[in-house]
Amino acid sequence: MPATAIVGLQWGDEGKGKVIDRLAEEAGHVARYAGGNNAGHTVWVGEERYVLHLIPGGILHEGKVNLIGRGVVVDLHALEEEMAGLEARGVAVRERLRVDGRVHLIFPFHRELDAMAEVWRGSGRIGTTGRGIGPTYADKVARTGIRLADVLDEESFAVRFEALLAEKAAIAEKVYGRRLEDPARIAEEVRAAAERLRPLVVDGGALLQHADAAGERILFEGAQGSMLDLDGGTYPYVTSSWTGTWGIFGGTGFPPHRLERAFAVAKAYCTRVGEGPFPTEEHGPLGERLREQGNEYGATTGRPRRCGWFDTVQARYAARANGLQGVVITNLDVLSGFARLPVAVAYRLPDGRVVEDWPAELGCSALEAVEPVYEELPGWDEDLTAARRLADLPAAARAYVDFLAERLGVPIVSLSVGPGREQMFDTDPAVPWTWS
Ligand code: IMP
Repeated sequence: MPATAIVGLQWGDEGKGKVIDRLAEEAGHVARYAGGNNAGHTVWVGEERYVLHLIPGGILHEGKVNLIGRGVVVDLHALEEEMAGLEARGVAVRERLRVDGRVHLIFPFHRELDAMAEVWRGSGRIGTTGRGIGPTYADKVARTGIRLADVLDEESFAVRFEALLAEKAAIAEKVYGRRLEDPARIAEEVRAAAERLRPLVVDGGALLQHADAAGERILFEGAQGSMLDLDGGTYPYVTSSWTGTWGIFGGTGFPPHRLERAFAVAKAYCTRVGEGPFPTEEHGPLGERLREQGNEYGATTGRPRRCGWFDTVQARYAARANGLQGVVITNLDVLSGFARLPVAVAYRLPDGRVVEDWPAELGCSALEAVEPVYEELPGWDEDLTAARRLADLPAAARAYVDFLAERLGVPIVSLSVGPGREQMFDTDPAVPWTWS
């Protein structure tokens, strides 16, 4: 049974939650491989709305194994809160959730340092979610981080935590002139939380390899988007993990040759939260209208999202790097009522050259200065939310989708026209992207 990945094609918030939920229903295992509780996936089950930050989307389905893979960074307090919220709504979380012992832990001082670093950066701030993601991954790479398994190993925790805390306290005090939250309390709380999780701790790589050998369907759930990838994205305005399909293998221990299919989710336009290059950003009233029509406010932080037009230069770059078999386009309904729909097909670079491929070789300021070259497509006025098949769409909407597919060089396999599960339909029977 092919293992399948779903990733974000743009800057996150593409509506992956609903797509993942659809596949999770059919999967045996669902695994997160990167990021932390900076993510926010909204899923509707009937009239019930769930927002998942850290726990994989299969948690809402009976009989699924949901793995938080070793590449994820985990704030134990946030994880327990999310578990309790789901349990209060009758979800059997402990039966369905497993956590790799090698996940690195986010401590309160990582969150504090995340905020302090943003202030320190001044006008160069990244606009992080403030969840301590960057500082935790930095410690992981510096080999001073602490994993869940280390907390459960009393001796190793005592020594490593003391060393880490001493370093962080010195940085907070000497660089930022601040004192950290009560460290003794943190150590006790973390130890207790880790103990409560002990029964769920596994070797995630082995778990997935066995499932694969047994013919189970495995779904890899991407978080954030390809343009926020630490290496492939708009550095330094990125998150601190590998968000693309390449992150799956390091982030879980699943072998690369066993991933058979990868699909990405993209909005019919573009959004971004936080700072950084966004070539097709629309600053005027049209951008404001996209924000209002699309209700573009962050699921994790509530921040208004920056809005703009679909960018085929960016999207083709991400589609190629992820090795996609297809793309799911979401929020197509949001575009109703715009007379004309600009789509970026090239960039004019600061030196005057016009390019059709993402200019990854540019520094960040030059990337901020590129000007999109647009092709304008006719819009439509019809409400799309009741469409259930391609033929229900007005000709202009179908032409818009065809244009994106042609420019992306990848089939568009499904369209979403609203938040409900029923408001999504497949477009190309030649490219099966679900298991059924
Ligand atoms: P961090 O991941 O909190 O360090 O934030 C780094 C950048 O990634 C900021 O621009 C955030 O707004 C952005 N970011 C992180 N997670 C998400 C997400 O789930 N959706 C959209 N943007 C995100």
